[in-house]
Amino acid sequence: MKIDLKIRRFNPSTKTGREPYYQAYSVEASEGMTVLEALLEIAGKQDPTLSFRRSCRSSICGSCAVKINGFTKLACNTQIIPAHQKDKELVLEPVANHTVLKDLIVDFDPFWKKMDKVKPYLMPAEKRAKEVAVTQEDAAAIDDAQKCIMCGSCNSECNALEIEKRYLGPAALAKAWRLVGDVREAGGRNRLGRLSDDHGIWDCVRCVHCVEYCPKGVAPLTAIERLRARALEEDIRDNHGAKHVDAMVDSVKKVGRLDEAAMTFKTLGFLRSLGMIPFGLKMEMHGKMPHPHLFSQIKEIKEVRTIYKEIERQKNKKAKDRTKD
Ligand code: SF4
Ligand code: SF4
Ligand code: FES
Repeated sequence: MKIDLKIRRFNPSTKTGREPYYQAYSVEASEGMTVLEALLEIAGKQDPTLSFRRSCRSSICGSCAVKINGFTKLACNTQIIPAHQKDKELVLEPVANHTVLKDLIVDFDPFWKKMDKVKPYLMPAEKRAKEVAVTQEDAAAIDDAQKCIMCGSCNSECNALEIEKRYLGPAALAKAWRLVGDVREAGGRNRLGRLSDDHGIWDCVRCVHCVEYCPKGVAPLTAIERLRARALEEDIRDNHGAKHVDAMVDSVKKVGRLDEAAMTFKTLGFLRSLGMIPFGLKMEMHGKMPHPHLFSQIKEIKEVRTIYKEIERQKNKKAKDRTKD
């Protein structure tokens, strides 16, 4: 069956390729043929100037991630006929949130630098009193994070990364959890301190794209949530993310719902909140400004506080059990 496809081309070293454009190709597709096999066919028989990355052809090396009809996927793991049938067209583009170098090839340097920032190696204690046994449960906690093949699909689809390039991103944070969550790791608290700084764990907006688009089931968002929970357990609170969480908890405890105006002050502090006034005015103009009178205490506040008491009781019990161990 003949399949037409369009590929986004870009080559800054030629006059014609300086501005991105879409080039049409056509391949004879057989049952089971992958998008990568189509690319190899085009580069081998029709157009040797077409550039893309690949190596293993079996979803292991992570080098062939591209956008297929707008969604990031591994080219070697996507069959061309179903992909074409689903959307009645096939458009291949480089992954997003990365600078394009040529055609489907993007600059992965920022990706590796962020990976480097989380110090992607275990730092066990120099001297151990006794052997650290890793139970099945301990291994399971970091198991998903170990499956990462560094393909960058999650970063390509990350909404937080799209607006803030300095954000560490889901791939590096999944790696960070793999280490913080390892019972043999001794530098966890220091790591969590660094990860709680600006553009770390608290930048994620929980859009769940990294979970949806990861071809290996790493679920970076779960890793990020575990890092956040661990950072709060370690009482690392001098950052906007933790302050925001504390403000939410206080608000619900106090009035039974979120008082967003008060939360802004508690999260950003007085001076930085002043900088939010233009934004607040815009919200007001669009009828989106939460008004204080809406935040009167809810009738069921006693029930809410009972839940808080129970959480506190369980927390204290856990802390006691830990000291016993
Ligand atoms: S859930 Fe967070 S890390 Fe994952 S893609 Fe969305 S913003 Fe990025
Ligand atoms: S977490 Fe998943 S999507 Fe992200 S780099 Fe690793 S394997 Fe790829
Ligand atoms: S070529 Fe290695 S993951 Fe696709």
